[in-house]
Amino acid sequence: MSGDRKDDHVRLATEQNRDRHRRNDFDDVRFVHHALGAADIEAVSLRTRVGAMDWPVPLYINGMTGGSDATAIVNRDLAVVARETGIPIASGSMSPVFKDRDTTGGFRVLREENPSGIVLANLSANATPEQAHEAVGILGADALQIHVNAVQELVMPEGDRSFTHWPENIASIAASLDVPVVVKEVGFGMSGETVAELARLGVGVVDVSGRGGTDFAAIENARRTGADFAVLSGWGQSAVGGLLDSRAAAEDARVTLLASGGVRTPLDVVRALALGASAVGVAGGFLRILRQDGRDALIAEIRRWLEQITAITALLGQTSPAGLRNTDVVITGEVREFCQARGID
Ligand code: FNR
Repeated sequence: MSGDRKDDHVRLATEQNRDRHRRNDFDDVRFVHHALGAADIEAVSLRTRVGAMDWPVPLYINGMTGGSDATAIVNRDLAVVARETGIPIASGSMSPVFKDRDTTGGFRVLREENPSGIVLANLSANATPEQAHEAVGILGADALQIHVNAVQELVMPEGDRSFTHWPENIASIAASLDVPVVVKEVGFGMSGETVAELARLGVGVVDVSGRGGTDFAAIENARRTGADFAVLSGWGQSAVGGLLDSRAAAEDARVTLLASGGVRTPLDVVRALALGASAVGVAGGFLRILRQDGRDALIAEIRRWLEQITAITALLGQTSPAGLRNTDVVITGEVREFCQARGID
């Protein structure tokens, strides 16, 4: 059952991401161009700090899959892509391992194919500290992603219905692991209040993973056999909204922000870095390229992204991802309205 679900997610997310260039909140973020302001390309380094980790590039493959035969193959391909391009990669939720030990190999490939890369394990906020230890051990992981996905669970007929234990559970996992914990949404965004609370719980890295890309309310709704629950499609904040809403709280609490959700282009990556993200994740868009055009096409695409992220960084007069926070950004449209409504200046 769980394996079928994972196969459905891959299929439905691939379909959903076909129109990769549809408008989203990233279009409301523009840079002021300074015609004499460019830096030299060769001075640019893409290295970035993510909590206590040093990442070679500010771009990563976000958590997606594992738990069935077909998704083990997807994971193997993604791991090869990560190795060949040098970008960090996160696993999909490893909870299938604790229901069926035979699924372990389909996750372990992420490390076997990519022995010296940055690899993140992934579990839900229901996991026990023991499971968290084991998941990190299986992948030799550099960090653990914990996903918080109340919207998705509620739309899933078989999903969780109680959530109040999540904060305490996240705190016990964070306290017991010796690798960093990254708490992430799955495409509905984070608020400043949530980031402040996560900091109090001992979490040092938060991925605001917002709407505008893969929409898990729509995906789970498509899988429902009972009454439709489509109204939650489009719920929440975008990555742009989430970064703007939470960057003050993150700075106060020394939380590292990551961004994902609806990242379509290298320019979107640079936009998110300028708004305070230390690295930017892509899930559905890369999955679509992998499944439609194959592994080599995805490797070529990611190399092109890294070159163009470097070029745009230089164009903006900067030599590092962190430097992009000093650029002149103009916020327009709905994002501007969101900022006004939330009292963000
Ligand atoms: C996901 N995502 C996800 N996240 C997570 O923490 N654990 C998981 O198991 C999964 N599973 C999963 C499967 C598939 C097929 C996709 C496309 C995505 C969510 C993902 O990490 C990300 O937060 C969202 O997809 C938003 O990013 P994109 O897809 O808009 O780039």
